[in-house]
Amino acid sequence: MEQKRYGHFDDENREYVITDPKTPWPWINYLGNEDFFSLISNTAGGYSFYKDAKFRRITRYRYNNVPMDNGGRYFYINDGGTVWNPGWKPCKTPLDFYECRHGMSYTRITGRKNGVEASVLFFVPLKKWAEVQKLTLTNQSKEVKQLKLFSFEEWCLWNAATDMENFQRNFSTGEVEIENSTIYHKTEYRERRNHYAFYHVNTEIQGYDTDRETFVGLYNEFANPEAVMEGKPRNSHAHGWSPIASHYIEVTLQPGESKDFIFLLGYIENAQDEKFQAPQVINKQKAHALIAELDTTEKVDKAFQELCQYWDALLNIYKVNTGNPKLDRMVNIWNQYQCMVTFNFSRSASFFESGIGRGMGFRDSNQDLVGFVHQIPSRARQRIIDIASTQFPDGGCYHQYQPLTKRGNNDIGGGFNDDPCWLIFGTVAYIKETGDFSILDEMVPFDNQPGSEVTLFEHLKVSMDHVINNLGPHMLPLIGRADWNDCLNLNCFSWDPNESFQTTENVSEGTKAESLMIAGLFVVTAKDYVALCQKIGKTEEAARMQQAVDAMIDAVKKHGWDGEWYLRAYDFYGRKIGSNECDEAKIFIESQGWCTMAEIGAEDGMVAKSLDSCKKYLECEHGMVLNNPAFTKYIYEYGEISSYPEGYKENAGIFCHNNPWVIIGECLAGRGNDAWSHYAKILPSYVEEKYQTLHKVEPYVNCQMVAGKDAFRPGEGKNSWLTGTAAWMWYTVSEFILGIKPDYDGIRIDPCLPETAGDYTVQRKFRDAQYEITIHPNGQQKGVKQITLDGQPVQGTVIPYSAGKHTVEVTM
Ligand code: BGC
Ligand code: NOJ
Repeated sequence: MEQKRYGHFDDENREYVITDPKTPWPWINYLGNEDFFSLISNTAGGYSFYKDAKFRRITRYRYNNVPMDNGGRYFYINDGGTVWNPGWKPCKTPLDFYECRHGMSYTRITGRKNGVEASVLFFVPLKKWAEVQKLTLTNQSKEVKQLKLFSFEEWCLWNAATDMENFQRNFSTGEVEIENSTIYHKTEYRERRNHYAFYHVNTEIQGYDTDRETFVGLYNEFANPEAVMEGKPRNSHAHGWSPIASHYIEVTLQPGESKDFIFLLGYIENAQDEKFQAPQVINKQKAHALIAELDTTEKVDKAFQELCQYWDALLNIYKVNTGNPKLDRMVNIWNQYQCMVTFNFSRSASFFESGIGRGMGFRDSNQDLVGFVHQIPSRARQRIIDIASTQFPDGGCYHQYQPLTKRGNNDIGGGFNDDPCWLIFGTVAYIKETGDFSILDEMVPFDNQPGSEVTLFEHLKVSMDHVINNLGPHMLPLIGRADWNDCLNLNCFSWDPNESFQTTENVSEGTKAESLMIAGLFVVTAKDYVALCQKIGKTEEAARMQQAVDAMIDAVKKHGWDGEWYLRAYDFYGRKIGSNECDEAKIFIESQGWCTMAEIGAEDGMVAKSLDSCKKYLECEHGMVLNNPAFTKYIYEYGEISSYPEGYKENAGIFCHNNPWVIIGECLAGRGNDAWSHYAKILPSYVEEKYQTLHKVEPYVNCQMVAGKDAFRPGEGKNSWLTGTAAWMWYTVSEFILGIKPDYDGIRIDPCLPETAGDYTVQRKFRDAQYEITIHPNGQQKGVKQITLDGQPVQGTVIPYSAGKHTVEVTM
C-alpha cells in the first residue's frame, strides 16, 4: 500500500527534504561536530548543549510534551497582524510554502507567507562554540513590507536534571545582562560556574525581552506570546523565574528586497580570575571576539562553506557506485552521517533519550567507533583511551561515563559481562584502519586513578581475562547484570516497580546464569586478539588465548546447541533460555548472530541451521525480531525483557542493532541472497519508499527498534538516531556485503552479494593510499577468483598497502 509521503531524498545536495511540517513524528537533525551541539527538528524545535547534555544544557526543552516537540529556536514574524514562523511551529499559521532541508550538520528551514519568504540556515561552525542562525527575509510581493521580527530562545539553568525539578531554588536564581544586541545568560555565574551563554543578532534592535512570563503572558503559549501578538516588546529584565532571550527588530523590505540577519547562540568559559569586568558584570571579552568572527553574511557563508568541505572530505573516504541510488545514498551519505552522530553522542541525547539518564556507554561507544574510525581516526583513538580509562583492574568496567568529566557513572555502575570484549572490537578496528600499533603502548589508568596506568595492551588482556575468569557451570561466560541485551536480567529478581532493572542489587552468589551471546562475542573478539598478539610477536599470549577460544567453542558445541539453533542463555538456576523446550521465547537472535559470526560448529552444519532458523522463526516483513514467540507475561527470573508488551523493544521487537549480526553470519557463510534480503528490510531508503506513515520516525536514519510481528502495529519505528545499528549497518555493508575490509597489512576484498548484483566501484581512501576498486560479481554470491592491483595479479584476497593511487580489479 502506498503511504503518504512527507519528504524525499536530494542526493546531489546530500539532504533530506521535508515538504510537510506535520511529519508523523518530529524528524530531527544534529548540528555540531565536537564540543557545541544542537538538536533541531523540522520545525526548529530542540536545544543546544556544550559537551554534555546533562551537565551543560544551554537551552531548555520539554520532552514528551503536548504538543510534542515544544521549545526551540523560534522566529516570529508579525506582518500586519498575521503572525507566523518559518518552520510553521509554534504558531502553526498555515504557510504558503514550507520546506525543511536536513543536511550534513546543518538544517535549512524555509517558510513563505503573504509574499514574504523567511529562510533560516542553522549550523555550528567548525571549532566554534556557537550555533549560527542565518535568517534571510525576502519580500516577494509588490508592496513595501513592514515586519516586526521577534527571536526566541529559552535558557536552561545548565543542569538539565535539576532544571526540571528543583523549582524552589531555580525560580530565584536566574540572571541575565543585556548589552546592545546581545542578551547574556549568567545564572550561577556569580558562584561556582565559570561559563555563560549569549544570544546575539548582528543588527540594532528596537527592543527585547528576557523574562518568559512577561514575553509570553502567564496564560498564553509559545503559539501566541503576548509581546509578539501585540507587536510590542516589553524590554523585560529577568530576575529569577525563567530567563529567555528575545530580540525585537523592525524590518522594512522594498518589493524584491532581501535582508540577512545573523543570530548567534554562543557559549563562553572564563578563567576563575577573569570572570568579571566589574563587580557583578561578567567579562564579555571572549563573547565579543566570538561575535566578531561571525557577524557578517560573508563570514558566516565562509564558515558554512568550510563545514561543507569538511563533510566532502569525510564522505570521500569511502564511496560506492552501484547504480542503485537507494543503496548508494545510504552508504555514501546517511549511514556514515549517522555513524558520526552516534560516535558523538553515544546514547545520550536524542528525541528519545533525554540527555539526562545516559552518558557514553562502554559497549556502545566501542561499537560506534567501528562506524566512525575511517572518518577521523584521531578522535577514535582518543575515544578508545577515554573508554579504557573507565575500566577496573580486573577487566570489568563502568557501563557508562559522563562526557564532560570522562568519569565512570556511579549511578549505573558495572557488572555487564559483555562490556570488556568490546574494547578489543574497537581497538582492533582502529589499528586495522590506521596501522597505528603505538596505541597499544599508551599508558592508560584504571578507573581514572592516577598512578594506576598500564599499557592499553594490558587493558585488552584483562578484558579477555575477565571473561575467562567468570565462567559458569557449563564453562560458558557468566552473564552478570546482563550482556548486550540490557534487559535479560537473570540475576535481578525484582518485584519492586520503583527500582531500575539495570541497577538493582543482583544476586550473584550461586548463580548459574550464563550467556551464549558473550560466548560468541568472546570467540570473535578473542580470535582477533590472538591474531593481534601474533602480529606484535606475543606468541605465548596468543597461544594462551587460542586455548581459551578452543575451550569456548567446545563449550558452545556441547552445552549451547539446541538442535536447530544456539541456545540463548542459562538462567540463575541453570535452566535453558531460548530453547525449543521453553514455552515462550524459544529462539533469540543475539546468540544466532554471534555464534554464526564466530562460525562455531560450521563444519557440523550448526551455522547453516541457525541461519535457517532465523529466517523461519525471526524474520518478518520489517526485519528479524529479537526473540520468538514473544513473552506474554512478566517472568521474575528474566527481568526487563519480559516487562515489555509483545513485539516492542527487547521483547520481540525488531532490534535493528542485532540484525546485522545475522547478516554478517550469512555473509561469512556465503549466502549473499539471504544477507541482502535481511539487509534491505531495515535499510532506511527502502523503508522510506514504502512506509513513511507507518514507520513514523526519520526515514533517513536507522532507529533502534521497529515494532515486531507480535506487536499491535508491526513496522512502527521508535528510538531513532542513537543506536548501534548505525555502526553495524556500516560495518556490514562496507566490509561484508561490498567486501572492502581494512586489515593490518592492506585491504581484504571479499564481497558477499545477491546474485542479481552488477558491477560496482568503490573509492577507498586508506591511510595514505587511494584505491579505486572495481568488482565484477558475474552472478556469484561469494568467492573472489582473481584480483589485480595496478594490473598485476595478487595472491589471495588482501591487497597489500602502499601509499599512492591504485586501481584494483576484482573478478568473482
Ligand atoms: C532499554 C534498553 C536499554 C536499557 C539501559 C532499557 O529500558 O530497553 O534498550 O539498553 O534500558 O538504559
Ligand atoms: C540499548 C543500549 O544502549 C545498548 O547498550 C544495549 O545493548 C541495547 N539497548 C540492547 O538492550
